[in-house]
Amino acid sequence: MEVKTSLLDNMIGVGDMVLLEPLSEDSFIENLRKRFDHNEIYTYIGSVVISMNPYRSLPIFTPEKVEEYRNRNFYELSPHIYALADEAYRSLRDQDKDQCILITGESGAGKTEASKLVMSYVAAVCGKGQEVNKVKEQLLQSNPVLEAFGNAKTVRNDNSSRFGKYMDIEFDFKGDPLGGVISNYLLEKSRVVKQPRGERNFHIFYQLLSGASDDTLKKLKLDRDYSKYNYLSLDSAVVNGLDDAANFRTVKNAMQIVGFMEDEVQSVLELVAAVLKLGDIEFKPESRCNGSDESRIKDKNDLKEMCELLGIEQSVLERAFSYRTVEARLEKVSTTLNVAQAYYARDALAKNLYSRLFSWLVTRINESIKAQTKARHKVMGVLDIYGFEIFEDRDNSFEQFIINYCNEKLQQIFIELTLREEQEEYVREGIEWTNIEYFNNAIICDLIENHQNGILAMLDEECLRPGTVTDETFLDKLNTICAEHQHFESRLSKNSKFLTDHSLPHNCFRIQHYAGKVLYRVEGFVDKNNDLLYRDLSQAMYKANHSLIKQLFPEGNPGKVNLKRPPTAGFQFRASVGTLMKNLQTKNPNYIRCIKPNDKKASHIFTDSLVCHQVRYLGLMENVRVRRAGYAFRQAYEPCLERYKMLCKRTWPHWRGPAREGVEVLMADLPVPAEEFSFGRSKIFIRNPRTLFFLEERRRQCLQDLATLIQKIYRGWKCRSHFLLLKKSQIVVAAWYRRYAQEKKYQKIKSATTVVQSYTRGWQARKLLRELKYQKRCEEAVTTISAFWHGTQARRELRTLKEEARRKHAVAVIWAYWQGLKVRREYRKFFRANAGKKIYDFTIQRIMQKYFLGLKSTMPSMSPIDKSWPARPYRFLDGVHRELPRIFHLWRCKKYRSQFTEEKKAVYEEKLEASEIFKDKKALYPSSVSQPFKGDYLEISTNPKYQKLNSAVDEKVLLADVVNKINRANGKGTARIFLLTKKSVVLADQKTGQVKASVPLPDLASVSVSTQSDGFFALRLKEGSASAVKGDFLLSSEHLIEIITKLHRTGATAADSKQLNVDISDEFLVQFKHDKVCVKFIQGAPKNGNSVSCKRKNNRLLEVSVPTTA
Ligand SMILES: Nc1ncnc2c1ncn2[C@@H]1O[C@H](COP(=O)(O)OP(=O)(O)O)[C@@H](O)[C@H]1O
Ligand SMILES: [Mg+2]
Repeated sequence: MEVKTSLLDNMIGVGDMVLLEPLSEDSFIENLRKRFDHNEIYTYIGSVVISMNPYRSLPIFTPEKVEEYRNRNFYELSPHIYALADEAYRSLRDQDKDQCILITGESGAGKTEASKLVMSYVAAVCGKGQEVNKVKEQLLQSNPVLEAFGNAKTVRNDNSSRFGKYMDIEFDFKGDPLGGVISNYLLEKSRVVKQPRGERNFHIFYQLLSGASDDTLKKLKLDRDYSKYNYLSLDSAVVNGLDDAANFRTVKNAMQIVGFMEDEVQSVLELVAAVLKLGDIEFKPESRCNGSDESRIKDKNDLKEMCELLGIEQSVLERAFSYRTVEARLEKVSTTLNVAQAYYARDALAKNLYSRLFSWLVTRINESIKAQTKARHKVMGVLDIYGFEIFEDRDNSFEQFIINYCNEKLQQIFIELTLREEQEEYVREGIEWTNIEYFNNAIICDLIENHQNGILAMLDEECLRPGTVTDETFLDKLNTICAEHQHFESRLSKNSKFLTDHSLPHNCFRIQHYAGKVLYRVEGFVDKNNDLLYRDLSQAMYKANHSLIKQLFPEGNPGKVNLKRPPTAGFQFRASVGTLMKNLQTKNPNYIRCIKPNDKKASHIFTDSLVCHQVRYLGLMENVRVRRAGYAFRQAYEPCLERYKMLCKRTWPHWRGPAREGVEVLMADLPVPAEEFSFGRSKIFIRNPRTLFFLEERRRQCLQDLATLIQKIYRGWKCRSHFLLLKKSQIVVAAWYRRYAQEKKYQKIKSATTVVQSYTRGWQARKLLRELKYQKRCEEAVTTISAFWHGTQARRELRTLKEEARRKHAVAVIWAYWQGLKVRREYRKFFRANAGKKIYDFTIQRIMQKYFLGLKSTMPSMSPIDKSWPARPYRFLDGVHRELPRIFHLWRCKKYRSQFTEEKKAVYEEKLEASEIFKDKKALYPSSVSQPFKGDYLEISTNPKYQKLNSAVDEKVLLADVVNKINRANGKGTARIFLLTKKSVVLADQKTGQVKASVPLPDLASVSVSTQSDGFFALRLKEGSASAVKGDFLLSSEHLIEIITKLHRTGATAADSKQLNVDISDEFLVQFKHDKVCVKFIQGAPKNGNSVSCKRKNNRLLEVSVPTTA
């Protein structure tokens, strides 16, 4: 079941200002503030929606919200713009009433946003389908296009619409959108040429420069740099949160969706570029002979580019900027323009170009979005237009005057329609019409628009009048004609009443609008109203070779010269306002009044004074008063009865009769005076909000009582149900218990019976058992007795058999013993003597035999150096085991020696002798052991080279080798052949073989060598011998060991006396001629390889450095 709710539920403040009690400006604003603080930005005045700009996104525009408000009654939910949109859409669809939604408010109050919200709501709830969606999309996409060309950043709003917009959306009978028509009002074209401080020109200029591709800009002869263009304000060119480049893409896309052709878009951009170029054309004065100044274009480059862009002949435009032609009936008069006039003409052209382009855009969009069928359709109009505008700090001028006039008209239509609606409703409901007192602003409208003496009419008159016309003459005219009007004030009119008012300057007039007094400065009124574009310029434009420009300036067509002046701005506006009002009057109005809470575009700030100001000039208090003039509140009988039926016993809880009677009964039952309400045909009308609040309060109390009653009944019902449940349970429990008790008793009896039965049966059974047992025992006794008898017999027999066997065994044993005794007695004499010794010897023999036979197979090899010997098997063989290896080794050596020849024997003897001389005494020795002693290294007897030398030596050569003879002066060696014979040592030249020295062996006293690994040796001669004259020899040889050994042997045999001495020591003396030199061997580092070096250190010391051997 759908829950019926009401606007009156959970209200913050009051949701409908009509219900405000007491009604005053303060309470009004307080209510707005309270709701604003709770994020309730919407409040009603009857069916009017007041919208506060939240300046931040609130989560109340979601698709869920759309669903919530869809198809609900206006007062059913809390105030929302969707409620108004839904109401308008439904009454359009279901009741066939054309609708208009009038959105007013000052700049930045959220009008445009509100109009978009309404449109998006309608788009969301109306029909769907491919065709319908395309129409919707086109209607919605017209917004970005118009916003780009018609919106600008102002001090109050970064996206302020600088034109009034009225859009008719057309629907078919089902409520599906078919198309639309847009009308635009009063574009603020002065912005094109000049912008107030902190504001910008229209968005499109900035969008084009920052968003267009380089290529496009080149085609349009534009530069991306804003500062190049006089018409662009630079200080606020960049706006926070506004991405011009992205928006440019959006606009181009939107134009495409709306249906603009490629070349149309290009033409439009060309015009925008032309306006920018126009601003850069500058003039300079040039004196003429008649003394007047004539203007000339300073730099023709911009002009040239602009002309190229628009396809205008440069000279034509140049002339149009220099001359002005006035055509009278028959004659044409050309006058030159001075610099100021030229600038005026230039700006007028720019303004006209842009505003006409804008109007063309609107027409073009209309062409695209217009409904395709001729079928009758319903219309919903959305009006987004400036609200009342009063500048306290700036001068209010012609524009504000026009805007305020428009608002004055809207207020009038509001009053008219509200009252008419009210009246119609009263008639419909059959309620007597009581006169309503309210302020009717028709008189102000008349002051402005009266055809004879209205301000606009007089302004037109002044503009058309020949002779000098200035703003002052216009003010004079007003002073004469309107002085008496009660809503008009000026310095003069006051003076005439002998009142002085210093707040009213001389060049101003003041109008008391319905929303307050506004002071207008007359300056510029005439000019702006004239909105003059010199004919020369429009003709020049017409000549352009550019289809769009041509269209925009039809009056330039020389074929259709119209000498009549074009209609003035004021006239045009009055006419279009008139059409608009007519249009609106045929429709059912829905109002949205937008208010901005602060001047800072900030959320959460509520500035009382600012809101109060807007409340005043939007005439909201007036709205409330008009709404409350008759009856403040009305409600259809059904919902009324539904809501308040609990206030009367007769209507509660159900009223069976018609709702109206129910309400009548209800109201009669309540202490409310009869004049406070009236009964219409379908609704009850309540005069005063107090009464409604009284009803609401009573309802609240009643709801509490009802809640108590419901609680009471519910509790009673709950307790009774509980009791009944308990009772039912008790019966069930009792039944179950009884059953249980009976069952128990039965079981007891049953078991007793069984016991008795069992006893009887037991007794019978035992009796039987006893008899059976007796029988069985008798049988067993017989068996036992016979068994015992058999047993006794068997045992008796066994005993006799066993006795017999024992006797036989005893006989055999005794026999054996007897035989043994006999044998031992016989053989005792053969045993005992010598048996032990024999056995021992035999055993030893056997062991020895085994040992020697074993040795035969484990004997070591015949090599004298093999030291192995098999292991000893018994300890007692210790001695043998020591002696046997020795014997074996001696025998093995003898065998080895017996193989030697005589020469080999001599060689081994020599080696043995070398060992005796050098072993463990000289480091060189070990390396010589393995070298065989060759003796004749030079093959002296066979080599022909040594034939002479061989023949010189008569003895057999024992050793021939090359040695080094050490020079006693410097220690260097000289090669010499060294020969040893049985009798002498010979030293000969190595090359020539000439004998250098021959020393008989007996002359040698001793030989000295070192302990180290060198080959040095000194032959020391016996003092006094013949050879000793030259001194000792210090030689070195690679075969030192062999030489010394052989020398030792031969010396011994030759001398037949004592052996030749071999001294082994690292320091020895050598006799050189007359002096003795000490030869000293030291261990040196192996510097030059492993060679031994010998150095003469001083007269007495020769140092031989021997490298250490590893
Ligand atoms: N309902 C809203 N929710 C959020 N922000 C809003 C709303 N209405 C207005 N605004 C903000 O205020 C700015 C001005 O609104 P706009 O509709 O352009 O003002 P107006 O058309 O009255 O000059 C918007 O750009 C937006 O930032
Ligand atoms: Mg706007």
